Amino acid sequence: MAKKLNYGFVGCGMMGQEHIKNINLIKGSNVAGIFEPDKKMREKASIIAPNASHVESIQELLGIKSLDCVVIASPNNLHLEQFEEIAATHPIPVMIEKPLFTNSADDKRISNLISSYPKPVWVAMEYRYMPPIACLLEKIEQVTDGVSMVSIKEHRFPFLTKVNNWNRFNRNSGGTFVEKCCHFFDLMRLITKSEAKKVMALSGQAVNHKDEKYDGITPDIDDHGYVLIEFENGIKGMLELCMFAEGSRYQEEISVVGKSGKIEALVPGPGRFWQHKTHPQPTPQVVISPREGKPVQFIDTPVDTVLLNVGDHNGATYFQHANFAKMLKEQSQPEVSLKDGYAAVKIALAAQKSAATGETIDMQHFF
Ligand SMILES: NC(=O)c1ccc[n+]([C@@H]2O[C@H](COP(=O)([O-])OP(=O)(O)OC[C@H]3O[C@@H](n4cnc5c(N)ncnc54)[C@H](O)[C@@H]3O)[C@@H](O)[C@H]2O)c1
Repeated sequence: MAKKLNYGFVGCGMMGQEHIKNINLIKGSNVAGIFEPDKKMREKASIIAPNASHVESIQELLGIKSLDCVVIASPNNLHLEQFEEIAATHPIPVMIEKPLFTNSADDKRISNLISSYPKPVWVAMEYRYMPPIACLLEKIEQVTDGVSMVSIKEHRFPFLTKVNNWNRFNRNSGGTFVEKCCHFFDLMRLITKSEAKKVMALSGQAVNHKDEKYDGITPDIDDHGYVLIEFENGIKGMLELCMFAEGSRYQEEISVVGKSGKIEALVPGPGRFWQHKTHPQPTPQVVISPREGKPVQFIDTPVDTVLLNVGDHNGATYFQHANFAKMLKEQSQPEVSLKDGYAAVKIALAAQKSAATGETIDMQHFF
């Protein structure tokens, strides 16, 4: 019998547990160790990962002999230092939750890791794996015959409550464009096959979190905004985010237009937040609208209910983990690299800076 793939977890709150529930659906996988400081989260994780040893540090986690890989799913501002601790102690294949980092002064630290980390690192960018988005990505060239414009609209529920409310403050999350939207900047890079050249943004806190206080301080995170991006190859991108719009029919609407047509992906939000109980949630869909009078095509991309029930991401966490496990077994390369994780956050940090200063940001990359 083939050896099981043994996973270790650094942080096992809401997202860590979604990872575990999806890993549990993959044959030959086992969660062997968890480092999770919060007692309640540890108890919840024990139920879905009954074979896991609970440890008190990353050092102790890496001491588990059978470990094949680590998933980092701690708060955003801890990702980079925890990854560096793994690099310094016992480099092992890693899946690291987005955002890879939260501080624009961290370029050097990332470039060191990119050039020296000896094992595969996969940055978790679930949105690539949502069935309607995966279908859009596959058909873009054929429909558009060359992309000119990419627009992503996310209208969703407010930020959820997290352990110790880490997501209420920019200093922990990197800011709303970093925490929430690095996924969308990753998709834009993938669609345009280019790097961002200029970034402009507007954002603010219009509705959410205004009446909350933590240690006497009101959250400083934004709840809505726009970002405009010019890519090096001339393609234009636009993001619209609203986090007080959980009544929306679809949560994400992505549209890509080129000289021969337009393709859209329509993604419903998590079923547990669907507001209109007397109406069924819409099916995820791709719409292809060619120019020159050809008929519009509607392609439904339904997601298996087993997968919908083990996460909030349209089955994406399962598909991502299936590919991650395949990469480990075949010793191939990660589909979402450290460079991808870095470049998506750079755009997000530029958007944060532009919104704060009113400036257009000229992008500079170390690669
Ligand atoms: N890819 C996605 O679609 C997606 C979705 C949700 C969350 N996330 C990311 O997952 C990460 C976790 O988010 P969450 O929603 O699970 O938050 P959460 O608060 O539910 O979980 C974070 C966990 O980390 C633990 N933690 C705190 N300090 C730690 C430390 N020093 N070492 C190890 N663990 C520590 C907390 O106790 C908590 O249980 C964040 O980076 C978030 O951006 C990604």
